[in-house]
Amino acid sequence: MQRTARSRPIVRGLAAVVAALSPFALGACSVKERESDQVAGKQAFVQKCGSCHVLNRAGTKGVTGPNLDEAFRQGLADGLGRDGIDGVVRKQIAYPSMAGVKGSGLMPADLAEGKEADAIAAYVANAVAKPGEDEGLLASAVKAPGSDKPIAAEGGTLTMPADPGGALLYASTAATAEAGPLEVAMPNESGVPHNIVIDGKGETEVIEEGSVSFEADFAAGEFVYYCSVPGHRQAGMEGKLTVK
Ligand code: HEC
Repeated sequence: MQRTARSRPIVRGLAAVVAALSPFALGACSVKERESDQVAGKQAFVQKCGSCHVLNRAGTKGVTGPNLDEAFRQGLADGLGRDGIDGVVRKQIAYPSMAGVKGSGLMPADLAEGKEADAIAAYVANAVAKPGEDEGLLASAVKAPGSDKPIAAEGGTLTMPADPGGALLYASTAATAEAGPLEVAMPNESGVPHNIVIDGKGETEVIEEGSVSFEADFAAGEFVYYCSVPGHRQAGMEGKLTVK
């Protein structure tokens, strides 16, 4: 991707700076502390960063920003160690380029600070461009969002929450309802903007917090519900409603 290619020199340029600092970055932390930090880091990454970045091990699929696995694969090949990546990520969180330019679509500043930013950077540094899946504590850090277990409408309302952890998914990829008038509701606690749409039936406004719904009449059949925020449906935020 163009963005990724353009940003590589940034990574390379920082490598030297970060290499000089790395004895401090390593500090006196035991490996164990670093793993528990990373658990919090993974959770925070999924919630605060995943809506814009692909990071395979975190299971995130955002497309607004560069794919982080790809962005750092080259850096790793060029000798930027994982401690170096830690420093680059920490810097990026603190000083995203052109941060604060309204409507520029670039990465927002101040998404995290202090210990939380350290933990996110430690997790990303450990996880990027690494084959396989997270193990141990990290494997269970983020509950697998989205399930295939259908959510049934109750009392004429289908409630389909957005993933509370900020993943680009609804609580389920399947739903059932009886024919007739139906309210389709989407609670969203994630802080990530989402809506719910069924073509030809209705759509809600996009919200970051709260709950929205629309009403429509449904005859028996199959319908697709999805989030129309750019990139979200492609990342998996959709499901099938079966009306009987
Ligand atoms: C609203 C979308 C958005 C969010 C949320 C976001 N980013 Fe970004 N990120 C971007 C964009 C766009 C870029 C590329 C341009 C730039 O630097 O602003 C980027 C660039 C980066 C880069 C540099 C990648 C490279 O190729 O050099 C890193 C690292 C990064 N982000 C990490 C994070 C982390 C960690 C978080 C969470 C704390 C986060 N991002 C949250 C949009 C986002």
